[in-house]
Amino acid sequence: MTTVLHISSSARGAESATRSLGDALALGLAGDDGVVIERDLTAAVPLLTVEACNGLASPKGTKESTGVLEVSDRLITELNAAEVLVIGCPLYNFGPPAALKAWADLIARNGITFGDTESGGLVGLLEDRPAYIVSASGGAPIGSDFDLATTWLRAFLGFLGIRSVELVGASGIMMNPEGVMAAAHQRVAELIAG
Ligand SMILES: Cc1cc2nc3c(=O)[nH]c(=O)nc-3n(C[C@H](O)[C@H](O)[C@H](O)COP(=O)(O)O)c2cc1C
Repeated sequence: MTTVLHISSSARGAESATRSLGDALALGLAGDDGVVIERDLTAAVPLLTVEACNGLASPKGTKESTGVLEVSDRLITELNAAEVLVIGCPLYNFGPPAALKAWADLIARNGITFGDTESGGLVGLLEDRPAYIVSASGGAPIGSDFDLATTWLRAFLGFLGIRSVELVGASGIMMNPEGVMAAAHQRVAELIAG
């Protein structure tokens, strides 16, 4: 039984291209006997504050940061429970949606998701596993210099130890919605088929 975590971050609700592509990919990868855990980040992921920064930086947290640490712990627990990750990462103003960046800020925890090496460097502590970044843009080619979202997310996942990353990019939806979505769904079908 495969457990797939589908993280969506689009602010465009039911109209979202990344949400529909991510849904299809997550369901297909889970298969008939698998489970899909849905995490919609637009439902209130807190932004960092000084109290949250202090709490997240200390292994046991601080009294003032209890609420944020609970959210962070929950997000990390569901990440660890997943064998496969599907992450919706639409292109908003050259980067990822703020909700996805807020998620990243909450799950990067020294001693939990990354750690220090003896030589003074940093090492990812999450187990590598298949991860799929599902992106979409109005015009900019995904993977080009105008897309800092997928470049950033790939680097961030690598920092935590997740390097087996595949990309689904629906580039230029505003110019050719049907054609771009059909090609992206074809890519999804190929990834599901393996
Ligand atoms: C706030 C916002 C910012 C956007 N910024 C860009 C951009 O910088 N480049 C681009 O090509 N498209 C941009 N778009 C278009 C989106 O990338 C496009 O609507 C895509 O479908 C978003 O994925 P989604 O439908 O899953 O939200 C933007 C859309 C929104 C709502």
